[in-house]
Amino acid sequence: MLSRRVITAYDNTGTAIVTRQRDVVEVLDREADFAVVYEPRMRRITAGENFFLGMQDSAEYTRDVSNMRLVVRRADVSERLVAFTAREASAIVAASGGALDVPAALTLPVAARIVASYFGTPGPSEQALIEQTTIMFWWLFADLAADPAIEARAIAAAADCRAMLEDAIAARHATPTGDDDILNRCLALQASGTPGMSDGAIRDNLIGLLIGLVPTLSKAAVLALNELLNRPAALAGAHAAARADDDALVAAHVFEALRFDPVNPIIYRRATRTSVIARGTLRARTIPAGTMVLAANLSAMFDPVAVEDPDSFRTDRPWGDYMLWGYGMHLCFGAQINRAVIPQMLKPLLRHKNLRAAGLVDRAGTPFPAHFPVQFDPG
Ligand code: HEM
Repeated sequence: MLSRRVITAYDNTGTAIVTRQRDVVEVLDREADFAVVYEPRMRRITAGENFFLGMQDSAEYTRDVSNMRLVVRRADVSERLVAFTAREASAIVAASGGALDVPAALTLPVAARIVASYFGTPGPSEQALIEQTTIMFWWLFADLAADPAIEARAIAAAADCRAMLEDAIAARHATPTGDDDILNRCLALQASGTPGMSDGAIRDNLIGLLIGLVPTLSKAAVLALNELLNRPAALAGAHAAARADDDALVAAHVFEALRFDPVNPIIYRRATRTSVIARGTLRARTIPAGTMVLAANLSAMFDPVAVEDPDSFRTDRPWGDYMLWGYGMHLCFGAQINRAVIPQMLKPLLRHKNLRAAGLVDRAGTPFPAHFPVQFDPG
């Protein structure tokens, strides 16, 4: 327990940090006692409504997640996203001639193209979509000290992104298309009278999904690649798996690498009432109402009580050892997309011999990798 408020972006009375795997799981499972805090900022992003990541368990939460699950279907991952990502990433790597700035030239553009093709909402340009989603994500989740300059940029980006989505929805109403994309699936649900699918609700759900998708997929791919490049044996293993077209083994290398530097090393919640964490153990602690509880998922993945040989790089871990994108009710909506798409973003690079970093990961003053030059033997 710390008496200090570490997070000032959301109201709280103090801070508790939870590091054991069992306790991290407990905090994230007890969503009634340890609640998400994002609602006020979500409402500013949408200019009114909450988005389901900002909601506690409720009819509205279930309605919105269920609607989005009907349009973002798990079968799409294997039936279109894997092939789409592989094609786009391979073309970029093949055209690069052996030198590539990974986020700027590969992972961000591929994420933006997933939005354009799969969601059917390309935005005015890839760059605009990338910049808008990145600053909104930064303000919502990573601006823990409440920087007014970040807020101003995020609010402006939100207005632009809302306008882009409103235009896309209006254009589809005016000129329907036969494309099987997320936007058309949303409009089909709307036409069927499904609750929670007005034009405004579609816009708000899509803005949340786009914020969740673009900067995160790119950052995860870059961080995983960086960890692989720092470990020659692991890189050799990933290279062999990529050349053998063993996608499961490529993924095992990529996600084990990401365990050492996950996109979100902590997930934060606020105590709705005073209660005890780890009750019945020697480490039990009373957490006062209003405390911000930092559930350290990075630490959980290195907890020797729960994870075998946690400091070693191993590709034979059970998937349950990983907590790369949350846990419990708010487990990442894109979890299955992440598992399939991130390895496909990196596989065309990993196939090449002599893949090496040609500089450090440069975040350009943001929480997201902006530049990471790599080189490899072309051909
Ligand atoms: C590697 C890439 C990604 C990472 C690291 C990531 C991370 C996370 C984390 C940590 C959470 C839980 C937040 C919390 O409990 O406070 C979450 C939830 C969420 N993510 Fe992701 N995410 C990624 C990709 C995606 C993608 C591709 C999408 C969209 C298709 C997406 C949409 C969402 C949504 C909508 C939620 C809220 C889920 C709910 O409240 O039930 N994310 N993500």
